[in-house]
Amino acid sequence: MSRKPLMVGNWKMHANHLETIQMVQKLSYRLDGPDFDRVDVAVAPPFTALRSAQTVLEADRIPISLAAQNVHQESEGAFTGEISATMLAKLSVSYVIVGHSERRSQFLEDDALVNRKVKAVLAEDMTPVICVGETLDEREAGQTDEVLIRQISGALKNLTPDQVAGLVVAYEPVWAIGTAHSAEPDDVQERVQRCRVAVVDSFADGGEHVRILYGGSVNPGNIGSYMAKRDIDGALVGGASLDPDTFAMVVRYWA
Ligand code: 13P
Repeated sequence: MSRKPLMVGNWKMHANHLETIQMVQKLSYRLDGPDFDRVDVAVAPPFTALRSAQTVLEADRIPISLAAQNVHQESEGAFTGEISATMLAKLSVSYVIVGHSERRSQFLEDDALVNRKVKAVLAEDMTPVICVGETLDEREAGQTDEVLIRQISGALKNLTPDQVAGLVVAYEPVWAIGTAHSAEPDDVQERVQRCRVAVVDSFADGGEHVRILYGGSVNPGNIGSYMAKRDIDGALVGGASLDPDTFAMVVRYWA
């Protein structure tokens, strides 16, 4: 099963719309046609910068996809401050990050809500990037696999095998995010393989097509060792995606 690698830069709450334009342009100068044949690349700026990013990408025909960092589960209504999947689709957003650990811990998102958001994203023909990952306490208590399977099966509840086949899952151990303590590639491969087996058990072939990314202190020095693993199909990159030079080195992990 060949799955095209995917590198997503999650900018979190960094970069205004002017900075975003510069970052997208710089990144595009550092990548060229053959790179995009080999890897899918996406950036997830804050909501306020999506329109500017879309304009630059379309005007200059840059094959970098646009991702959003979050979405509301309803398509419209009295939800002050929220953004719907319909609105994101209108901005040519391709990927939507759902259930990031920062949203789970700071904004109390649970598996049932993540599942509703996944369905809202799919309904607009965009691709959810579903984040899962254990905390340090859960890891030390030997609960990692149980947590991952629970989060994945919660997120995928009532989806069809076809819907599942197009999904992206990002395994981001919470203790590895923004800490410089990246997870051991062998350990990530083992966890991710178990996740894939669980998805295959429930959704047959769909599970073989799901792209599973690793996230957590990814940088140009360690990306190669993750990409060498059979079940790791790319990365969700935080800090290292804010500098276009550095992110381009992550994207070109083979160079
Ligand atoms: P860092 O790459 O900064 O550890 O962040 C990972 C992350 O949370 C991406 O979503």
